[in-house]
Amino acid sequence: MTNQSYDVIVVGGGPMGLSTAYHLSKRRAKTLLLEQFTFFNQLGSSAGVSRQFRLPYPEQYMVQLVKDSIPYWEELQSLTPVQLMDKVGTLWFGDPAVHSTEGNIGQAEKALQALNVPYTQLTAAEIEKQYHFKNLPSTYIGLFQADGASIDLKATQKTLFDWNLASSLVTLLEEAPVIGVRQTKDRHFVVTTPQGDFTARKLVLVPGPYANGVFELLGFQVAATYWNMASAFYKVTQPGIQYPTWFVFQNPVGENGNQFYGFPEVDWNYPGYIRVASDFVIEPLSSPEERSPVPNPQELAFTAAWVKDHMTGLDPTPHFTSTCLVALSKIADKELLIDFAPPYVPDHKDIVIYATGWAGKFVPLLGKILSDLALDGHTPFDIAPFALGSIYFKAL
Ligand code: BEZ
Repeated sequence: MTNQSYDVIVVGGGPMGLSTAYHLSKRRAKTLLLEQFTFFNQLGSSAGVSRQFRLPYPEQYMVQLVKDSIPYWEELQSLTPVQLMDKVGTLWFGDPAVHSTEGNIGQAEKALQALNVPYTQLTAAEIEKQYHFKNLPSTYIGLFQADGASIDLKATQKTLFDWNLASSLVTLLEEAPVIGVRQTKDRHFVVTTPQGDFTARKLVLVPGPYANGVFELLGFQVAATYWNMASAFYKVTQPGIQYPTWFVFQNPVGENGNQFYGFPEVDWNYPGYIRVASDFVIEPLSSPEERSPVPNPQELAFTAAWVKDHMTGLDPTPHFTSTCLVALSKIADKELLIDFAPPYVPDHKDIVIYATGWAGKFVPLLGKILSDLALDGHTPFDIAPFALGSIYFKAL
């Protein structure tokens, strides 16, 4: 398989790469999708099966982006009989003064109001009565937004994978890490892998937490830190109890980052168990190679203690533990990085990148945005807040 020519080469075969290839094929672009490991691997940001779909965000532009994603989720849903989302609502609750990695409850309320997204406000007593939590400080407040859901990420990925596999325009190639990228005089890229060289006019680089390893080949890197996030399942002891997707805002206590989130029981992910996870790491990683499939025991212990103290109907012993590796931007206000390569890279507008951030809920829309950028050089969606700006730095 050498020297084959494509319109676009997409690097990274996770949900984002599969979604980009799907949208490129709809635009009739001949596309090669390169995956360094195997498709559906558990080594990157798509590890595990569920993700949260939620509208509350502290920034209006993020709420708008979630709203913009809805027609693309509907389009994807129309391709499969498997239900991609379990719509149980989003519950955000906790200390109203806390500003966490997910923002702040009051700011999210303002952003929802500005975009006419309906939600209800809750007191601590109402949260306990309606949503099965217990022993909450009386000062806690909450908001419930009914469109929130648990996303079946595996089914989402499989729907996109099956489409691409059936498409005569898409070639899927696994175990094909990119080990070199060369630019030719006639504005083409030659991408080298152990399986051969491939040529294209455009590149879309979406290798998740492994992004800097690919960007480096083009002479730049982004300022990222890496979280190896711990997750576990807790056995349901009270049949019929159902939780929404939820997130609790609390101040850290020592090493305990004290932010937790959880999911409903779903029939596609360890039925009889409920997933609860910590939204903090005790030690961020400085490179994706440091990742471990074994969760940090303290992060698990803090989560299990929170389950014991504040959730009803669950046995607080963690089961089926796992980790998920995510790259996060070191620049505080940049949740997602979506842009072209930095201007000093020759033909930088022919190289589209998606680099950092939690984006499971945006998979169908970001594929559309990245394909727009590759084929048209622009997109109608507001991605200005996600620009690289000056935060990239050259590889040493
Ligand atoms: C999210 O919805 O983006 C999210 C939820 C929980 C933890 C991290 C991210």
